[in-house]
Amino acid sequence: MIDVQHIDLSFDGTQWVLQGVDLHVKSGEFVALAGPSGCGKTTLLNLCAGLLDLPPGQRLQVAGQAPKLGSREVAYMLARDSLFPWLNALDNAAFGLKVRGMPIAEARDRAAKMLKQVGLGGFEYRMPKALSHGMRQRVALARTFAMPSPLLLMDEPFGSLDAQTKLQLQDLLLQLCQEGNRTVLFVTHDLSEAVALADRVVVMSSRPGRIVADVTVPLERPRSIRQLQTNENFHRTYAQVWKHLEEGWVHHEG
Ligand SMILES: Nc1ncnc2c1ncn2[C@@H]1O[C@H](COP(=O)(O)OP(=O)(O)OP(=O)(O)O)[C@@H](O)[C@H]1O
Ligand SMILES: [Mg+2]
Repeated sequence: MIDVQHIDLSFDGTQWVLQGVDLHVKSGEFVALAGPSGCGKTTLLNLCAGLLDLPPGQRLQVAGQAPKLGSREVAYMLARDSLFPWLNALDNAAFGLKVRGMPIAEARDRAAKMLKQVGLGGFEYRMPKALSHGMRQRVALARTFAMPSPLLLMDEPFGSLDAQTKLQLQDLLLQLCQEGNRTVLFVTHDLSEAVALADRVVVMSSRPGRIVADVTVPLERPRSIRQLQTNENFHRTYAQVWKHLEEGWVHHEG
């Protein structure tokens, strides 16, 4: 589903942002991407979404093609608040579906169901300015989840949520992935979230952004996030990922 082959990228021609990055994600896989701030995680997602052009001669394919902005294959949830201030929660959540040509009534219906699932039933007609940051984030989540796209690119989607809401939405994400055979590339700073959700955790180091580890998560599916807290494999894998992240830092500082 994602095939990144030895990508080098520099924005200013002097400093490498990404260097020799290889990333392969199979259809149906859930891959978490972790690494220090500024290591190029968002840049990598932007490349996969076709928001950034690839330097000539380099190979990056998504679903067998060069990334194209607005592709039906891909739903991208940006890290920053990406709601349209002039649309209410329902129309924000339905936006991606409308753009893809779904009739408005049907798009609203699907979006309303998703808003309920992210805990925002009753807030359909609120404007973004009348919602809290976490609520706006959940509207953006509903928009992403509502899309039938096989590939989800998610940039710190649960970043500013309280612990309880986060748990609920992590479980919802796992459930949606199981039902729909989705492929997910998921950026997070939260290593326990990375291990809990993913099949593999890919760890990057910064300046230049390189991939320093690719850890397979030995946990069965279906998973329940709450039950993982007492799972030995969960803690062992967490420690392993943490160590790689730390080594990336030592390498960087040295
Ligand atoms: N459009 C751009 N022009 C110039 N430099 C950029 C651009 N976008 C990103 N960068 C630089 O590329 C590097 C990687 O940025 P990126 O946003 O991908 O990091 P990140 O891993 O997502 O960080 P964070 O965890 O803080 O979100 C940073 O040094 C950033 O300053
Ligand atoms: Mg980022």
